[in-house]
Amino acid sequence: MNLQSWTPGRVNLIGEWIDFNGGTVLPASLPLGVEITLESSPDRFDHVTSAQFPGTASAEQNAPAQKHWADYVFGALKAARKQRWIKGAQAVHLDSIIPAGAGVSSSAAVTVGVLKACAPNGVDPTRIALLAQSVENDFIGVPCGIMDQMAVAHARPGEALALNTRTLNIEQLAIPEGWTFAVIHSGIERKLADGRYKERRDDCLAAAKLLGVDYLCDAEDLSALPPDLHPIGQHVLSEGARSRAAIIALRDSDARAFGDQMTASHASLRDDFKVSTPEIDALVDDAVKLGARGARITGAGFGGCIVALLEDNKPAQWWTNLHAAHPASRWICDVKAG
Ligand code: GLA
Repeated sequence: MNLQSWTPGRVNLIGEWIDFNGGTVLPASLPLGVEITLESSPDRFDHVTSAQFPGTASAEQNAPAQKHWADYVFGALKAARKQRWIKGAQAVHLDSIIPAGAGVSSSAAVTVGVLKACAPNGVDPTRIALLAQSVENDFIGVPCGIMDQMAVAHARPGEALALNTRTLNIEQLAIPEGWTFAVIHSGIERKLADGRYKERRDDCLAAAKLLGVDYLCDAEDLSALPPDLHPIGQHVLSEGARSRAAIIALRDSDARAFGDQMTASHASLRDDFKVSTPEIDALVDDAVKLGARGARITGAGFGGCIVALLEDNKPAQWWTNLHAAHPASRWICDVKAG
C-alpha cells in the first residue's frame, strides 16, 4: 500500500532567531507544499525521486548522510524505522513547489512530510516535529531550532501560529480579513548547511552563558557582554519584545502596529544580527516606500525571501512597481485570511 502526505512550507512573520533562545515566534503556513508518496523498495536501498530534479538518489537503509538533497528523506526514513512506523527500505517520490534555499522551510516540509506519511493515524504533530528536528540536528548536522518543524506540522491555512518555543504551546491566530502577507524572493540564494547558521547560534549560546541565563531571551542587562556579542544579545532581546507586540497587534487587527514591528525587526537583523544583504535591505525599503505597512527578511537570512504586510487584497500594482525596481526579485505567494 502506498503512503502519502502533503505538507506546506512556512513564512515566519516575526520572531527571528529566537526559537532556540526561549522566545515566542509567529510563523504561518504557505499555500505551497510538498507532496510525498512512499512504497516498499524492491531492494535493500532507499530510493528517492523528485518531480523537480532528474535521476534517482539511493542509499543503503540507515546509512550516514550522503551530503545530498535527498538526505532529508534518508534521515526521516531512518527515524521512522526507529519508531517502528515502517519496516524496510522505501521508494519515495517528492513533488515540491516550495522554493529551496529561500527561507521558507522546504527542508522541514520534506522531513515532516516523510514522517507524517509513515506515522500511524493520530500521532501528535508535535512529536513528528521533534523527530524532524532531530533529523536536521543529528543526521544532517544543522543545529536548527524547533520553529520550522512545528510550523509545518501544525499550521493551518489562514492562520498564524504563536509558538512558545520553550513549552511548545501554540495559539492559532486568524489572519485578519484584508491583510495580505506577500512573500517575495530576493533573487539571492543561500544554504543553511554552510556553517553560518551554526556560527550565529553559537554566539547566542555563548552570550547566554556569559550572562548566566538558560535562554538569552531571559537576559535583563547585556552590559557584561563583550563588544562582538552585545549586538547579538540586543537583537535577541528586542526581537522577543517585538514578537510579543506583534502578536497583540494581530489580535487587535492593527496592521500599522504589526507592520512597524516587522520593519523594526528587519533593521535589527540588518544592523545587530547581521544576516541581511544590501540588496535585501533595498528590497525591504522599497517594499515599504511603495505602500507595504511593514517588511522584513524572513527565515535564517543571508539571502532568500522577504515578507511584506499589505492592507490590500490584490497588491498587483504594488508588486509591479517593486519588481520594476528589483528585476531579480520574484513573487512566491501570498498568505491571507482563510
Ligand atoms: C531557520 C531555523 C529555525 C530558526 C530560523 C531563524 O529557519 O531552522 O529554527 O532559527 O532559521 O529564525
